[in-house]
Order: sequence, then structure tokens, then C-alpha cells
Amino acid sequence: MPELDPMLPAPALFGEIDPPQRLLMGPGPVNAHPRVLRAMSADLLGQFDPEMTGYMNQVMALYRPVFGTANAWTMLIDGTARAAIEASLVSLVVPGDTVLVINFGRFGLLLQEILGRIGARIVTVDAPWGEVVPMAAIAEAIAAYGPKVVACVHGDTSTTMAQPLEGLGELCRAAGALAYVDATATLGGMEIAADRWGVDVVTGGLQKCLGGPSGSAPITISDRAAEHIFARRHVEQGIRRDDIVDGAGVRIGSNYFDLAMIMDYWSEKRLNHHTEATSMLYAARECARVALGEGLAARFARHAASGRAMTAGLRAMGLTVFGDDAHRMTNVTGVYIPAGIDGERVRTMMREHFEIEIGSAFGPLQGKIWRLGAMGYNAMRHKVLITLGALEACLAAEGFVLPLGAAVPAALAAWVA
Ligand SMILES: Cc1ncc(COP(=O)(O)O)c(C=O)c1O
Repeated sequence: MPELDPMLPAPALFGEIDPPQRLLMGPGPVNAHPRVLRAMSADLLGQFDPEMTGYMNQVMALYRPVFGTANAWTMLIDGTARAAIEASLVSLVVPGDTVLVINFGRFGLLLQEILGRIGARIVTVDAPWGEVVPMAAIAEAIAAYGPKVVACVHGDTSTTMAQPLEGLGELCRAAGALAYVDATATLGGMEIAADRWGVDVVTGGLQKCLGGPSGSAPITISDRAAEHIFARRHVEQGIRRDDIVDGAGVRIGSNYFDLAMIMDYWSEKRLNHHTEATSMLYAARECARVALGEGLAARFARHAASGRAMTAGLRAMGLTVFGDDAHRMTNVTGVYIPAGIDGERVRTMMREHFEIEIGSAFGPLQGKIWRLGAMGYNAMRHKVLITLGALEACLAAEGFVLPLGAAVPAALAAWVA
């Protein structure tokens, strides 16, 4: 038996994982549904075990209604939401392609960052943070630039705005463009209608409205986009097979995020690409089962009630809610930090006194707003009320003069409105 080097310090064991019971009321991640946590503790299977491939097929079926689609290619990308974004863009876009980004916040900038690395020619149609881009401006930009792909975020958590997407697909199809949508922050909480919107690729994450942990990213791909992706198929050397033929297109610039190979893995071909993240697949499967069991319409209504209640409670405290009221995401609300109040001190007090996490902000909004989320398992009346009560107490302790006791009744009234 090899001995441990006696010159090295004895390894520390630290403690068993025993995190505090925080209530995560920021822009995500949020607390996972207990059923999802239980599913993750189930025993592991080999990746080609018929039980496992059966679960994979179930996941495909479960996520179709979640995405509002009949797309056969509906599955998971192993990794956080950003993994599915990157897989989509690197598989759709060839260096030099023109891509139009509908840009209204940090995650529109992320799309540009990823596209920049791919070598796309990036053009944008922009709105200031706190607003969305009018469909007429998108139509004009498509006509002006003739993009190969139009890429957009649905709900941008950095600004709390939800971009209307009705009609986007029609515009793209008329112009011969493919449409990509990042629905990480809204999937399972606001309606995602991939087929009705006519968009080609939509991606999500579990850690927001689906009430799971981060680390698995659902994706749906239209047949049109699939054709385009398979035209770029170049199966890696060690797993080539006679029944899987390469395409004539440019090889996808990433192995891990090569959608052609990932799709062959999820198909009955079961190409041995990566080792599917079994526990995350269990989590994703249970997230969808919880969402569909509740009913999507009921779930969207619960998120809408949470957003209404949060907004009403914040306003009743005398605070100013950030952004355009008409395009607010239902699951995350931005609110200005009042003058003279140290936003980080309040967040620390919320965490230390109440075990509640609320979010700070990025870029031009950093230090200016907090972001309060109520999504997935946390889009519940009592969690919204507890958060508002705690925030009121923290603000009062910091010397902010506010009508004590007003927020909770206002939120209760708005919940049922
Ligand atoms: C709209 C949006 N897109 C993408 C991401 C990135 O997700 P992840 O951190 O899981 O990669 C986030 C995370 O906050 C998000 O809100």
C-alpha cells in the first residue's frame, strides 16, 4: 500500500455538508422542490441501461409541453444554462455568419460574448436596461442585416424584463433566419410557446422557475434547425460508426457542445458521446413532473400572483420598482435601493437575521437596485410575505422611514387580485 507522504500536512476532513436553511428569494438559484432533491438521491444506472435510456426518452416527452412544442429533439444538455446557450450558438453559427442579437440586458451581452468567440458577425437591436425591444424594431433590423440567426433572451434577470416573442418566428422564417431563445429564467414560470412563436431553438435551466438545482439545461430544437445541425455532423474518431454519416457543413467548433453528436446520443442511435449526468437527469425529470402535475396554467398563475404581490408589497413600503411595468417578468422584481441606504448591509441583515437571500445587480444597475425573486418552489404566498416583512424590518432598522405594517396586507390583497 503506498503511504501518504509524511511531509504533507494531514488532510482536513472538514464537516459533513450541512448548509443553513436559507430562503433563496433572489434572481435564482432558488430552493429546490423536495421531490427533486429526493429524486437526485436515487441510485445510479449505466448510461446505456434500458432503464436509463427509458428515463431519457421520458425526459424528452416531459419537456415538450414545458417548452410548448412538438419538437422531437427536446432533451438535456449537461451543464448549467449557459452550456445549452453555448451548445446552441456554436452548433447553429459558423464563423463569419451574421447574427442579430436582441439586446436589453446582461444576458443579451452574454449572447454577444459567446458569439464573439465563435467568430460571428454580430449586429444588435437594443433597448435600454429596464425596457424591451419593440417587434417593429426587430423587423427593421432583420430587414436591414439579413441575419442567418436571430438570438434573444426571453426573461433577462439582470433587468427583470420579459421580451415579447409573439411573431418573432414568422419574421425570421420570412427572412430565412433561424431563431434562438434563452428562456433560462422563465421556463416553467412564464409561458414558453416555442411552436406558436415559431422559434427554432429554446434553452432553459432548472434553477429558476423549474425549482431544481443548476447543472442541467433543457433544450428544444426544431426540425429545421436539426437539419442545419446535422449538416455539420462530424463524429469524433474513436466513436465513428457506419450508420452515422458526416455532413458536408463546417465542423462544429466544440466537441462537448456539439449538438449533432449530443442528438445522436439522445436518439435511438445512442452514440457514445458524453456520460449523461444521471442524478441531474433524475432532477430534470422530476422538475418537469412537478410542473406538469401542477398544470402549466396554474403554475404560470402562481408565478404571476407572486410577482404581483411582491411588487405591491414593495410599493406599499414606499419603494420604487425598477423598469417598465408592462413587460415585467412575473418571477423576479427589481427595486431601487432607497437613497441613504447601504444595499449590501441590508442584504447581509436579511441573510443573518432572517436567513433570506435577496439579489444584488450587475453592470449599470449594480448598487442601484435589489432583485427579489419568487419562483419555482419559492413562488408561494407565505414566502413572499415573509420576505416583505423581513425587508421592512431591515429597512426600518437602517433608519428608512416607511409605513410600518403596510407591505404584507398590500401583498396579500394583490395575491388574489
Ligand atoms: C436569462 C439567463 N440566461 C442565462 C443564465 C446563465 O445561467 P447559468 O448560470 O445556469 O449558466 C442566467 C442565470 O442567471 C439567466 O438569468
